Amino acid sequence: MSAPGKTKFQIDLRRHLREHYVNENLTHLICEIAEASKYIIHSIRTGDLGVAGTSNLYGEDQLALDVLSDRILRKRLDHSRVVANIMSEEADQIIPISPDCNGKYSVAFDPLDGSSLVDVNLAVGTIVSIFEGCDLLQPGRNQVAAMYILYGPRTTLVYSVGKGVHEFGMNTLMEYTLLRENITIGPQANLYAPGGLRNLYTPGVEAYVRTLEERGVKLRYSGGFVPDINQVLLKGKGIFFYPHLKDQPKGKLRLLFELSPMAYLIEQAGGAASDGCRRILDIQPTEIHERSPVFIGCKEDVAMAEEFICKHDLQRDSAE
Ligand code: AHG
Ligand code: MN
Ligand code: MN
Repeated sequence: MSAPGKTKFQIDLRRHLREHYVNENLTHLICEIAEASKYIIHSIRTGDLGVAGTSNLYGEDQLALDVLSDRILRKRLDHSRVVANIMSEEADQIIPISPDCNGKYSVAFDPLDGSSLVDVNLAVGTIVSIFEGCDLLQPGRNQVAAMYILYGPRTTLVYSVGKGVHEFGMNTLMEYTLLRENITIGPQANLYAPGGLRNLYTPGVEAYVRTLEERGVKLRYSGGFVPDINQVLLKGKGIFFYPHLKDQPKGKLRLLFELSPMAYLIEQAGGAASDGCRRILDIQPTEIHERSPVFIGCKEDVAMAEEFICKHDLQRDSAE
């Protein structure tokens, strides 16, 4: 839907949100996150690539960029006046901003996903999940919005508030203007992005990969969750998975600020997301840094993954 007299390419993020009757506070929140991305871009382009000398609760060394990106987002959200609680990949626990839940939102985010790829100049991104009120430990189906910003050859922003998935590009004035509306993905993949070490795949996952390869599906894996999902979304076909592994039954990716927001966006585009047995958006998190295996993308290939994993992967039962 483009405003009369304006080509869709001149529609900026705030106008698009207003045209979709998104309430004022949520519009303000999404635009504040978009604003924060401009400072994150600056830190990626010019910032220190070294290690911050600290580690996050996963025991992963925090890069200076992780910490800086986290600080930029936290500050924006803190000053936005519409946030109740936040949870960041870089924080040990939920950070309370305001005790008042009415008309406010709680935000879970990965400030810089794939940050270790910056020093080899590969694309990285920011992932954001938004719930109404104060509670962040909800199934992902209760999100009111999800978005990501992809810092690649071009900087793009993708969001949904449950009314389709839309992509914006950053112009020379650092404004996000509409590129594509109501993005959809088809039923069957022609590319796959397999995370995790192949020799740690269970028999069911192995058989699944072989079936994809026998169908001639191409392997496309960058190691960055945001560009890998963005490729599935914008090519309109594809399947990404980071499965349960023999030594990691829960896989690697985090439910709250990686899988739930991406599952929300992919489902809004007509795709699916499963942990191999259950819909990602139906999983009730029990802890803020819960991990889950994930198969996300074209509906038919997610369903096929569930055939191989849930019904026939006996290895899985013994691994849990
Ligand atoms: P983060 O940098 O936020 O820790 O996330 C990295 C994740 C995700 O970007 C990607 O899908 C996955 O790590 C890749 O893991 P492997 O290096 O094990 O393939
Ligand atoms: Mn991440
Ligand atoms: Mn991260």
